[in-house]
Amino acid sequence: MAVILDGKKVSLDIQEELRIETKERVERGRKKPHLAAVLVGDDPASQTYVAAKVKACERVGFDSTLIKLPEITTEKELMEEIKLLNENPKIDGFIVQLPLPKHINEEKVIQAINPKKDVDGFHPQNVGRMVLGLPTFLPATPNGILEILKRYKVNTIGKHCVIIGRSHIVGLPMSILMGQNYYPGNSTVTLTHSRTKNLKEICQEADIIIIAIGKPNFLTADMVKEGVVIIDVGINRVPDETKKRGYRLEGDVDYNEVIKKSSFITPVPGGVGPMTIASLLINTLNATKLNSK
Ligand code: GUN
Repeated sequence: MAVILDGKKVSLDIQEELRIETKERVERGRKKPHLAAVLVGDDPASQTYVAAKVKACERVGFDSTLIKLPEITTEKELMEEIKLLNENPKIDGFIVQLPLPKHINEEKVIQAINPKKDVDGFHPQNVGRMVLGLPTFLPATPNGILEILKRYKVNTIGKHCVIIGRSHIVGLPMSILMGQNYYPGNSTVTLTHSRTKNLKEICQEADIIIIAIGKPNFLTADMVKEGVVIIDVGINRVPDETKKRGYRLEGDVDYNEVIKKSSFITPVPGGVGPMTIASLLINTLNATKLNSK
């Protein structure tokens, strides 16, 4: 029987811990954490994610500011907004929700964020620190995955961890973190992607599979061995007339079949998604401590 890694519950547990710590902090006269989120355009999924981040701030007693900019915002205008956030002492950390409209260069934007306020951990300086194992803001989704592995005491040491997808947000940092020389990590990592040959055979050798490619039902039961640990990062909107909103959410895994062979598995929704939010809040509190020293 697979253990379901309940990200929703763990995330709420973490949020409760953060709420208590924040309350005590504010009672001692310290600064209340303040997260800002910049959303450019009207991508429906991004709107949902940002709304969830703002709501979570309220739940733990942080201040939050949502800056909504129209799709036609120029790169220059966005850079000006970032400069204001970098310089605003009230804002401890901020994120620019990705993806950005095509006419804006994401890399340029990320590099404009003050690394000390980069609670997404996307700035090259923070990515470099992560690679070297130095204190930094770890990117929210990978850190959320580490946290859920830790809380369920999933053994990662010496295990073969196969990562599917090499995005800068999930797959690439995850490959570094699972290979790091402390728990949860110390895995032997294989990073696979769209050019990988024999993906099925590689997955069949995996003790842990972390998949983040955005393709529903991609990972099927014939691709995994008995006892595998499955971390499903996909959040796909699959059209579904029976739902009021016209779609349902599915991960990248054929969940109903793969669960039968798994020792641990994350559901979608309610797995990795809520953990991402918990990590962002942890980073925001850490940014507040760092920046108000
Ligand atoms: N888009 C998808 N995931 C993320 C994330 O963790 N942070 C930001 N800023 N954008 C995203």
